[in-house]
Amino acid sequence: MTLLQVRNLEVTYPGGVAAVRGVDLRLAAGQKLGVAGESGCGKSTLALALLRLLPAGTRVGGEVLLDGEDVLTMRWGQVRAVRWAGASIVFQGAMHSLNPVHRVGDQIAEPILLHRKATPAVAKKQAGELLERVGLPAARATAYPHELSGGQRQRVMIAMALACAPRLIIADEPTTALDVMIQAQILRLIEQLVAEQDLGLIMISHDLAVLADTCDRLAVMYAGRVVEEGPARTVYEDALHPYAKALSAAFPRIGDPASRFAPRGLPGDPPDPAALPSGCAFHPRCPVALDVCAVDDQELREAGAGRRAACVRVQATVPGPAATAEDARSGT
Ligand SMILES: Nc1ncnc2c1ncn2[C@@H]1O[C@H](COP(=O)(O)OP(=O)(O)OP(=O)(O)O)[C@@H](O)[C@H]1O
Ligand SMILES: [Mg+2]
Repeated sequence: MTLLQVRNLEVTYPGGVAAVRGVDLRLAAGQKLGVAGESGCGKSTLALALLRLLPAGTRVGGEVLLDGEDVLTMRWGQVRAVRWAGASIVFQGAMHSLNPVHRVGDQIAEPILLHRKATPAVAKKQAGELLERVGLPAARATAYPHELSGGQRQRVMIAMALACAPRLIIADEPTTALDVMIQAQILRLIEQLVAEQDLGLIMISHDLAVLADTCDRLAVMYAGRVVEEGPARTVYEDALHPYAKALSAAFPRIGDPASRFAPRGLPGDPPDPAALPSGCAFHPRCPVALDVCAVDDQELREAGAGRRAACVRVQATVPGPAATAEDARSGT
């Protein structure tokens, strides 16, 4: 059953910053979708748009259907209900945003009190149970954030995201600030929780290796577009789009923080979304670009066995009347 369907999502920040451009995605209940791409490719913007958390003045178009209802047009009361009981976000760097002057147990209990209308005693008990579910003793509920390690704080954030029993968890770089060992533990925890409760998961990371290891499907974003989407392992090991290829080559092993801003084998930077290049936005960095790539933008299209890619060369490999690369060059 489809849990989330995103159709032609467009997000433009004030000043003409086209951060998300025509994204289509689908997530079934219990499915795990990874979203990858270099810094600035629009991953967090996509996550924020799903729950209408973008700053005022941002233009948003398209549809975000959660259980068939469009989050982008629903009333604010309904949006608030969705944010608590429908879908929860673990934000990028969120473990630093716990309130330092409140005990973590109280911070987990707060949404249960407010949104599930539980009594304080019940909320407290549930907070303890949630801590145990994320691998912390219930007694840690009385700790303040500074008394916990980074990994423990991230576990608390995950407990908060689970507090109102959402059906979809959106995890934006949930482990980036953690060391590799702890990162692996947190990823296993997220996987386990998602499997136990048949939750949908959207996991965002610049690190393709992490996503290939954790997710069922993988979407690779570049300059606000999904340029490739398909089964996670296949995309990681045998990408079709030259950007996805370069990105997977840049992340040969899980959790290498050094490759974050300068992936190996991928010179240059993603474009400024306020001044995108003509044609395919990747063409200035693409090692196999054709002349046509500077002119024609490429739509995401079927590329065999549950895969989609947005590259003129990929079109050439799909059976049927598609043009060959030579045809594309000469414009026939
Ligand atoms: N509030 C904002 N106003 C204007 N531009 C913004 C705003 N937030 C983000 N942007 C721009 O939108 C683009 C996409 O940003 P976004 O945060 O979605 O990228 P990202 O893929 O999550 O990157 P990272 O890996 O660094 O987290 C960037 O060029 C960024 O500068
Ligand atoms: Mg981000």
